[in-house]
Amino acid sequence: MKEQAIIETARSFLYEQALIELKGKPVGTVAAIPLTKKNKSNDLNYGEVFIRDNVPAMIFFLLDGRGEIVRHFLDTCLELQSKNFQTLGIFPTSFIEEIDGEIKVDYGQRAIGRVCSVDASLWWPILAYIYVQWTGDRAWASKPEVQNGLSKFLDLILHPGFRDAPTLYVPDGAFMIDRPLDVWGNPLEIQVLLYGALKSAAGLINIDLEAKGYSGKESDSIDRLTETQFQQLPYTIAWLKRLRKYLLKHYWINRNIVQTLRRHPTEQYGDFILNEYNVQTETIPNWLQDWLGERGGYLIGNIRTGKPDFRFFSLGNCLGAMFDVISSAQQRSLFRLILQNQSALIAQMPLRICHPPLDDVEWRKKTGYDRKNLPWSYHNGGHWPCLFWFLVVSILQLRSKSPKSTAENEELEAMLHKTYETLLYRLQRQKWAEYFDGPAGVWIGQQARLYQTWTIVGLLLVNHFLNVNPDDTKIMELPSLKFLHNLTYSQK
Ligand code: GLC
Repeated sequence: MKEQAIIETARSFLYEQALIELKGKPVGTVAAIPLTKKNKSNDLNYGEVFIRDNVPAMIFFLLDGRGEIVRHFLDTCLELQSKNFQTLGIFPTSFIEEIDGEIKVDYGQRAIGRVCSVDASLWWPILAYIYVQWTGDRAWASKPEVQNGLSKFLDLILHPGFRDAPTLYVPDGAFMIDRPLDVWGNPLEIQVLLYGALKSAAGLINIDLEAKGYSGKESDSIDRLTETQFQQLPYTIAWLKRLRKYLLKHYWINRNIVQTLRRHPTEQYGDFILNEYNVQTETIPNWLQDWLGERGGYLIGNIRTGKPDFRFFSLGNCLGAMFDVISSAQQRSLFRLILQNQSALIAQMPLRICHPPLDDVEWRKKTGYDRKNLPWSYHNGGHWPCLFWFLVVSILQLRSKSPKSTAENEELEAMLHKTYETLLYRLQRQKWAEYFDGPAGVWIGQQARLYQTWTIVGLLLVNHFLNVNPDDTKIMELPSLKFLHNLTYSQK
């Protein structure tokens, strides 16, 4: 099949088979297109509308001028934001309309292993901000339902806790990796999404305060919601600044930093110490030497007392670049590292979800003998085509800021185009599989669903950003920290 025919096929899968309706209007896409009618009821929860899987679909609908679908999706998720005391303010993992018109919702209480998708709650404000910016629908941002939803979300995040760190502490499997894989604590993906979500929430509150004509100097006669906004906004911005500082200090590494870490003292106590999490230097793995090379850098997977996780997680790193957690210079080091480790991260199918996989005893102990997460399978070092567009956007965004044609930029560009060709060639032949197994990502995942929606949309997005309009990568831009810092009502 020729390129255009493959793209057209992907579009028709998306619009004609994956997209479903709620109350008579398109609302979102199922995780995987059912192969047969019979398959529909048996296929676990792949027939449901997942918030996380719908992120790429919603971005594509916006680019394709179908903002009304995105609005309906956001409104539906908002209606389903939990009202129970224990889970108040969280957004569902997935939902689906049943034959009798009832909406079946999963907040984790029905999920395999009873995992809760914390990332779904963080993606909602991000998507909401992107929708408002892209369509210019500021009136939607000012709806009391939207602002109340944001306020409940912020209440959930910015509350007193048992720790001083600005990161979000979560159980194993709270994000795209939704099974035990030793990703409990402060996994990178959650922290960068938190950063994006706080920026977006602050941006949306600002839009509403502006619309209401406030300047931040008012002292009397404001309603309850506005009063809460005035309390939450400066707190959110202060949290954001602390979070970025913290992530740069504890997650970012390169060759020099590793050399310093390896000589840190242990057993320190008090305010101004070097080794805050009492990390024994033996936890620093030797594979980092080759992986980092001379000038590579990346955000590590997790920081926990005595147990940092040095694995490389592709999505967390791409989002860290895209949301400007890391500086432009650090982004260049990250992309250099990706180029240098192409044979691992891209190989025959982009992108490997994390590197290296847990093996042997580690696999047994840390995954609980999880057969789906065998080494080089699924989340444990498997290859996911749905992740590639995030890398494309983050590289193109940096290039638009510094468009100089350097040898490195050209190499990156060539890598993106070559990888797109691989996707074009393989995906439709291999029935748009969910993920690929093995060290090079050659085999269709052992338990992979076929006709997985985010695989299909992933290709459409890569095509859009590389071939249709690279400038559209600005769709993923969130408000800058500088902008938020300068808001008059941000200072308390
Ligand atoms: C699997 C994946 C998860 C995804 C879901 C639906 O559970 O681990 O990330 O959201 O399938 O595709």
